[in-house]
Amino acid sequence: MPSTHERLPDNPAGWATDPGALVYGLDLSRFADSDGDGFGDLRGAMDHLDHVASLGVIWIWLLPFYPSERRDNGYDVDDHLAVDPRFGDLDDLRAFLARAHDHGIRVLIDAVPHHTSDRHPWFLAAREDTDGRAGKFFVWSDDDSTEPGDHPMFPGEEETVWAFDERAGRYYHHQFYSFQPDINATDPDVFEEIVQLLTFWLGVGVDGFRIDAALLLVQGKGRPDTDVDDAVFFDRLRARLREIRPDVALIAEASEPPEAMASLIENDRFDAVIDFSLNNATFLALARERAQPIVDALSRLDDSIPAESRLNFIRNADEADLSLLSDDERREVFARFAPDEDALIYGRGIRRGWAPMLQPAARVRMTLSLLHALPGVPLLQAGQELGQGDDLRVRGRGAARTTMQWDDSAWGGFTAASVSPLTLGAQVDGPFGYRTVNARAQDGDDGSLLTLARELARVRREAHADAAGWTAVDAGDGAVLALRRDGLLTLHNLSGREATVAIGDGQHAALADGWDGRTLAPYGFAWLD
Ligand code: BGC
Repeated sequence: MPSTHERLPDNPAGWATDPGALVYGLDLSRFADSDGDGFGDLRGAMDHLDHVASLGVIWIWLLPFYPSERRDNGYDVDDHLAVDPRFGDLDDLRAFLARAHDHGIRVLIDAVPHHTSDRHPWFLAAREDTDGRAGKFFVWSDDDSTEPGDHPMFPGEEETVWAFDERAGRYYHHQFYSFQPDINATDPDVFEEIVQLLTFWLGVGVDGFRIDAALLLVQGKGRPDTDVDDAVFFDRLRARLREIRPDVALIAEASEPPEAMASLIENDRFDAVIDFSLNNATFLALARERAQPIVDALSRLDDSIPAESRLNFIRNADEADLSLLSDDERREVFARFAPDEDALIYGRGIRRGWAPMLQPAARVRMTLSLLHALPGVPLLQAGQELGQGDDLRVRGRGAARTTMQWDDSAWGGFTAASVSPLTLGAQVDGPFGYRTVNARAQDGDDGSLLTLARELARVRREAHADAAGWTAVDAGDGAVLALRRDGLLTLHNLSGREATVAIGDGQHAALADGWDGRTLAPYGFAWLD
């Protein structure tokens, strides 16, 4: 089977035939600023697509770029049908898509149908007439009583899921911030609007969508008759989008256990889900220095969601959300990786970035390799391939949202502006800042994380490691995760001690750190074929 890089750009494969080597989450605002306004943009990102392609990226996921006050990083959408002028315009997006396609990269955009911002025209119209056609787009109530289980997603920042709107004289429901009123997915006009806006973007040339908060969209909103049948809703959505673009890719974001997500990929409703369960298990395994939690999570996933329909990640853009662990398990992970109260958030997550949280460097390298070895499709957020840091002085979930560190010049080469409002203080002077950690310094350095990321992409592609059929095998040491498929065997030592491995002796190492044929150094790993 040819690798995706050999496919003709005018004959793109859909997710089903080519789930892809790597998905790359790209926040335009923080990636590359071409016009010196301190804010990244499409032209800037276009100039760095070589870097993205060098990582073996098949799909870029563009985080929200819509007009927005960006009180929630652009997930507070003011207008679903435009590009925020700070990023450029529709022509810039078309140019970006064309350039990405030239590189053999397809582009998913973040679609946020679950809520709007409180400045969106739908909401402005709805508050004028909550019982009328416009009003039905949202969920209104005369009182703010809550049903059991109906709680805000950001406890501590939001006290309740109801906000009083003066204009309407009623409460509206919001699962996220109070400036993000929830859409009422039961309304047929809403469904039609969602189809229309996704159709619009397909017309512009995007290849698919990451549907934000997919399950929350269809679940009840604390009042009778507010839930919709997810199977019916998403089947209809898929069918409508396929009429326009038969190979449209649909990825669901939902932090739920595998069994709750299974229906999303049945009947091809979605191509894949962003899976949090394996991520949570990976943190538990790293905390315990035992492979078993990962092995257990994989077998549970295999019962519900095939590997090619799972997106794996080590650290997503918000907090490391560990809500799928039990309270005791989560405490174990907190004690190991975030002993400082200040590093925790919402009682469920860790604010620290990947590299600072999982240092030493050997463990950061091992986890990057692990991400590529786990059955499923790996997902990186821009900057993670360099081992960028965090800044806990930033309040809330923004602590690990760093601007891209291209070189060691001012602001890491991210912007030519004299002041860079999005660059975190620790990026200037912290141990993971751009003076030490940057793409230029790592490019061509055999020992760098960037070189490892490129090597992993190459080995993964050459070994067809994206194929299904991986099984966990006993390596003879509980700290070592051993995964086998056909002739390929990957070994990862999750512990900070040397591990003796009972298998793999005599196999050729396509890529390895700290492997001598029998033992793995602390946090060592090996790809054997
Ligand atoms: C995003 C968050 C956002 C939330 C609500 C999540 O998928 O990652 O940043 O706050 O959706 O839109």
